Amino acid sequence: MPSGQEPEPEPLDLVVIPGDGIGPELVDSALQVLERVAALEGFQYRITTIDAGAGAYRSTGRALPADALGRLRAADGVLKGPVGLPDVRHPDGTEAGLLGGLLRLGLDTFANVRPMRLLPGIAGATRHRAGEIDYVIVRENTEGLYLSRGAGAATPHAAADQLMVTRVGTERVVRYAFDLARGRSGAADDGARRVTCVDKSNVLRSYALFRRVFDEVAENYPDVETEHLYADAAAHDLVARPQSFDVLVMENFLGDVLSDLGAATVGGLGMCGSLNVGAEAAYAEPVHGSAPDIAGRGLANPVSQILSLALLLDHAARPSAGDGVRRAVESALSGGGIDLSERGQPVHGTQSVTSAVCEALRP
Ligand code: IPM
Ligand code: MN
Repeated sequence: MPSGQEPEPEPLDLVVIPGDGIGPELVDSALQVLERVAALEGFQYRITTIDAGAGAYRSTGRALPADALGRLRAADGVLKGPVGLPDVRHPDGTEAGLLGGLLRLGLDTFANVRPMRLLPGIAGATRHRAGEIDYVIVRENTEGLYLSRGAGAATPHAAADQLMVTRVGTERVVRYAFDLARGRSGAADDGARRVTCVDKSNVLRSYALFRRVFDEVAENYPDVETEHLYADAAAHDLVARPQSFDVLVMENFLGDVLSDLGAATVGGLGMCGSLNVGAEAAYAEPVHGSAPDIAGRGLANPVSQILSLALLLDHAARPSAGDGVRRAVESALSGGGIDLSERGQPVHGTQSVTSAVCEALRP
């Protein structure tokens, strides 16, 4: 290398898990966008593909290859398609090959970050307009009710699952939420930086602990407003006044349910990407499932996967690429380059959306 010149940065080391159902076609779409944005931003990347999910479970007896976790941890980031097939099940009736437990616990990705933004040209389920819904759900991702995944007590006549909340687990996800709020520009309606704690601390002790820890952590963030909502009231308010939210933090199961509710207000699950993030690893995936009924037909909306890619690029220290992808999605939507049906499916197919976003990616 000639002296005085910056060393070439290492190519971004990405792992791709195409997944099941519509997963491979969505991931293909996101990779087209990645190719374009990398060329524009001038960075290199390399991709390793890992076959995992329900299809892998059916053919190999394992949802995730034995050595995969180490590889995923070593990567700069992981882009995952949705997984799961309705006919691939464990004897107890739960779905096999969902990866949620394996990856979220295996990689200790304790925060599941789910931005909800109503974009131009999109009709949400409420009367709000583009820009009026712009908040992030931070879902605790490694404990809560889903820690009982595969572990609850069950006989053919009775089944019980426990909801586990720990101080350490709550502290780290609440801190993540406050740090995230510090980097944002506040709620859509009043611009206030605010973190809302969502729980059912009026009924369950586990949620009371969650709220107590939230309050303790909040003391370290005097510059960020706090709010408390019971989960039932939150379901109401996410519909009635979504413009007043900035960042919300909650237990795993509540986050699973309320993020689908939020999705309905921003045009459906096809518009929602997410990032699972921990201290050592991160993977991005759509909030929705693998829709096997429409798989392979080029009918699915790839925006969720493309916005997941944008979150991954932010995480992998390419934030201007992440912003570029988000801007391209918005301008493709507002420029009429994307036509979505009532059900949120692209009228002219998956590739038409991918092409419109790639086309809108400009320096
Ligand atoms: C999600 C999904 C998963 C979950 C399922 C598929 C296991 O619904 O990521 O929201 O419940 O966490
Ligand atoms: Mn879900």
